[in-house]
Amino acid sequence: MAQDAGITLKDVSRSFAGRETVVQALDRVSLDCPAGSFTALIGPSGCGKSTMLRLALGLDAPSGGTISVSGQSPQAAAKAGLTGIAFQDAALMPWRSVEDNIALPLDVLGRNRAGYLGKIAGLIELVGLKGFEKALPGELSGGMRQRVAIARALVTEPEVLFLDEPFGALDQILRRQMNVELQRIWMEGRATTLLVTHGIDEAVFLADRVVVMQSRPGRIGKIVDIPLPRPRLPDVFTTEAFHALEDEITEALDGH
Ligand SMILES: Nc1ncnc2c1ncn2[C@@H]1O[C@H](COP(=O)(O)OP(=O)(O)O)[C@@H](O)[C@H]1O
Ligand SMILES: [Mg+2]
Repeated sequence: MAQDAGITLKDVSRSFAGRETVVQALDRVSLDCPAGSFTALIGPSGCGKSTMLRLALGLDAPSGGTISVSGQSPQAAAKAGLTGIAFQDAALMPWRSVEDNIALPLDVLGRNRAGYLGKIAGLIELVGLKGFEKALPGELSGGMRQRVAIARALVTEPEVLFLDEPFGALDQILRRQMNVELQRIWMEGRATTLLVTHGIDEAVFLADRVVVMQSRPGRIGKIVDIPLPRPRLPDVFTTEAFHALEDEITEALDGH
C-alpha cells in the first residue's frame, strides 16, 4: 500500500444555506487518518458525519479547507477506484445477483469484469457467502445483504474504505458477529478505514481511534485512542478496559 494511502482533512468546512438560516454542517474540521489505520466517527445525529464522508468521496465539495484521499483529491481517488463505500441500507440492485452486485463498481468504472473473477470469488468467500453467488438480494437476510455491500466496497481493492453505519439496521447479536468479521476482513487487507457508527461498543471494538463529534456547528470534540491489542476477541466486550473506554467516549459525547 502506498505511504500516503491515508485520509487528511485540513480546516474543512461545509455550510448549507437555507432560506433564512445557514447550517454549519462542518466547522474547520482537521483529521489525519494514517495509511492502514481504523478510525471510528461517532456523534449525535446531524453533527456532519455523513457530510464528511460525502466530501471525502468527492460527492460534495467543501466550503473551505482541503481534503486528500490516498494522496489525491477525493474525486481523483474515487475515479481511480481507490475508495470504497458501504452504507447502512445495503442499497443493492434488487435485479442483480450477489456476484453482479459485487461487480457493480467495476461496471461503473468501466473495468473489464473478466479480470476480476478470482477477486470476486475470493470476496464472496471472505464475507461468508459461498454458494449464494447467483442469489438475488430479496432471497438474502439483512446480515447477508450487508456482507454483499462490504464485498462490493472492497472489489476495486480500495486503499481507503468508508463505512456509514453499515450495521445500523441489524440486531445486536448479528451486529457483534459482523464486528468480529469486519475486524478480520480489515486485518487481511488493511485498507485505511473510516467507520461512522452510533454504537459506542462497535467503535471501541473496531477502531484504533474514536473521533467524537459535536453538533451545531459540526466539529471534533475529542479523540480517544483505543490501545486494545488485536485481534480483539468477542470476550473483550466485557472487560474492564473496554468499559473504561466506553465511559470515556460517553462522557465526551455528553460534552465533557
Ligand atoms: N444537502 C444538504 N442540504 C442542506 N442541509 C444539509 C444537506 N446535507 C446535510 N445537511 C445538514 O447538515 C447537517 C449534518 O448532516 P449529516 O452530515 O447528514 O449529519 P450526520 O450524518 O452526522 O447525522 C444537518 O443539519 C443536515 O440537515
Ligand atoms: Mg449520517
